[in-house]
Amino acid sequence: MSTLLIRDLAQLATPRLGRGPLRGSALRDIEVVDDAYVLVRDGVIDSVGRMRELPTLEGEVEDIDGRGLSAIPGLVDCHTHPAFAGDRAGEFALRAAGASYEELLAAGGGILSTMRATREASRAALEAIVVRHRDAMLERGTTTFEGKSGYGLDRDTELAQLEAVRAAGGIPTWLGAHAVPPEHADADTYVDWLIEDVLPEAARIAVAADVFVERGTFDVEQARRYLTACRAAGLTLRLHGDQLSEIGAVPLAIDLGARSVDHLEATGPAGVAALGSSDVVAVLLPIAALYLARPMPPARALVDAGAVVALATDFNPGSAFCESLPVVCTLACTQLGLTPEEALAACTVNAAHVLALTDRGSVAPGMRGDLVLLDAPDWRHLAYHLAGDVVQTVVQAGRVAFTRA
Ligand code: NIG
Ligand code: FE
Repeated sequence: MSTLLIRDLAQLATPRLGRGPLRGSALRDIEVVDDAYVLVRDGVIDSVGRMRELPTLEGEVEDIDGRGLSAIPGLVDCHTHPAFAGDRAGEFALRAAGASYEELLAAGGGILSTMRATREASRAALEAIVVRHRDAMLERGTTTFEGKSGYGLDRDTELAQLEAVRAAGGIPTWLGAHAVPPEHADADTYVDWLIEDVLPEAARIAVAADVFVERGTFDVEQARRYLTACRAAGLTLRLHGDQLSEIGAVPLAIDLGARSVDHLEATGPAGVAALGSSDVVAVLLPIAALYLARPMPPARALVDAGAVVALATDFNPGSAFCESLPVVCTLACTQLGLTPEEALAACTVNAAHVLALTDRGSVAPGMRGDLVLLDAPDWRHLAYHLAGDVVQTVVQAGRVAFTRA
């Protein structure tokens, strides 16, 4: 039996546990406890409260001094692409000089340039790469991450990417339909091949399937065919939609009962209203919008319309080379019109919902012992300190997984 006590915390801040994800005013209903403790037994939160309520503890107890620190739930990054080789620093420079993301992809660069590098990498190399990025996420407070494939676009490399995410403790999503690789004549024949030759194996490793619905990648009918087959194979459905243009991803996501539609930089009022009355989670990725100098997604309107909103990094080598959910929270509060409370709920309890994980995203008895201790007495430094080293200690399943020296 292992017992961990985090005591004398200046503050503990957590979304309240309800049934299912939070939306509307519940998204801002953060519980803040001053002078708090958290007790974790065998990896699971046992009790939480004020120091004066702390029960007498028997036996061996590991103890963390929380004076001057604030605690929040372990962060959940529900949208990342960490299994890639090489980099796109050259394209970053080209974009800085005026090239567009779409032009680079259409010219065989972008996703396809990462595909070439990733196909060259060994399984062991891919695993080491995902571990490296996972550790970078952990140091920034992420205790649970989702990771997509989508840079192999051939059978073996797609499966190797999914295995690498799983081996690093991540939640794998199969993004076979990310771009059309050069050995396939067109998107239709590629989708046929994906369903026939890769889906049966991918469905054994992944928990969800994802597709990039966009001009130049997959249109709505191709995405529908791919996702319908993936759903029949038992996968949860997700979409990259309305990133650059609004070509029907939101109605498709709602029609298919997808778990999420992610990006939404180009979503207009009809899409906002539709998501507001659906259970499809709107996953917002402000780093991608910032990085590609695109409009920010209509986050405030989505929350006000009643949509379930989550936030994620979209960590990837092309449009969001950043592993930091605290940076996402800063952008949420400065660019998306969300409050720190809404941002916290969106990258904890609602992000866990995207991944169908009910044991994390909140600090409450029975939840997994995942906590982030921030080096500030006010938890809002999470968003307030732009790109600061705000994470002091990360506890994952009741064990200290990172401490800043
Ligand atoms: O979510 N938009 C599609 N996929 C990724 C970017 C992939 C890449 O550029 O390598 C995204 O932004
Ligand atoms: Fe993405």
